[in-house]
Amino acid sequence: MTNLTHEFLGRTFTSPLMNAAGVHCESISELRELQQSAAGTLITKTATLQPRQGNQSPRYADLPFGSLNAMGLPNFGLDYYLDFVSTQPANGRQLFLSVTGFSTAETLELLHKISASDFQGITELNLSCPNVEGHPQLAYDFAATKQLLQQVFNFFDKPLGIKLPPYFDLAHFDQMATIINQFPIAYVNCINSIGNGLFIDPQTDTVVTRPKTGFGGIGGAYVKPTALANVWAFHQRLESRIAIIGTGGVRTGRDVYELLLCGASMVQVGTQLHQEGVDVFARLETELQEILTAKKIDQLTDMIGQLQTL
Ligand code: DOR
Repeated sequence: MTNLTHEFLGRTFTSPLMNAAGVHCESISELRELQQSAAGTLITKTATLQPRQGNQSPRYADLPFGSLNAMGLPNFGLDYYLDFVSTQPANGRQLFLSVTGFSTAETLELLHKISASDFQGITELNLSCPNVEGHPQLAYDFAATKQLLQQVFNFFDKPLGIKLPPYFDLAHFDQMATIINQFPIAYVNCINSIGNGLFIDPQTDTVVTRPKTGFGGIGGAYVKPTALANVWAFHQRLESRIAIIGTGGVRTGRDVYELLLCGASMVQVGTQLHQEGVDVFARLETELQEILTAKKIDQLTDMIGQLQTL
């Protein structure tokens, strides 16, 4: 069987698989279950400076081909997650901490706290939450994203990745990649949910979630082609020092394999983890290993980004 042990940002992981931020990672007990699973590592729920209840329920729905969520960033606040990751072995060196601010000042304050802490792991700055009213997805505003990154990298020197929303136009890939290449960003994570989709319950002719009159981020199989395209687009445009995490629509080992082919070097699982629980990681790893063995691929690095074009 092909060994899935894999390097990412100079750290060694037993598997390229992990949870997507937001899924099975809000409470310490969920984080512990991830730690005990076959996942290579974990990322926390996106933390805000203050704890938040999030939006009104119902705010999540499983759909025929995925999920719709309008969670609105419920979380226990930065201190809760920072304390958890910093007190794991080697000060959480292998763990990911997701954060977001509702203003530049708040984002800088979060990152100053992380900077001053013992945490030696990887920070992911979420620039793409679609579910908080009055707070547009920052990474759709190219100038604002650039300005924020300029301020962040004035002081922040721990490994930092950014979580991007999906883009749908080649010009937008060009513009965002040009900005990202100007900064010491460790990785980009493509993609967050496809923002503001809508699903109608055929029994009741109503929307399925309460917040925002039914709009919510779409995940699962619906988003896989968009996730693949975003990973592939950034793989072609980013400097090779910038890694890519692929997220979106993973249900099988084949889906993981395809994100790796497009240029992802870690792969996150969201909707399927929500639906199947933490055993999903062992299943996906077995399925991926079977594919790699059949194709006589000895190590993951041999196939990452090796998608062939016509
Ligand atoms: O789909 C999402 N839902 N993406 C995020 O970044 C945040 C999350 C939420 O809490 O609404």
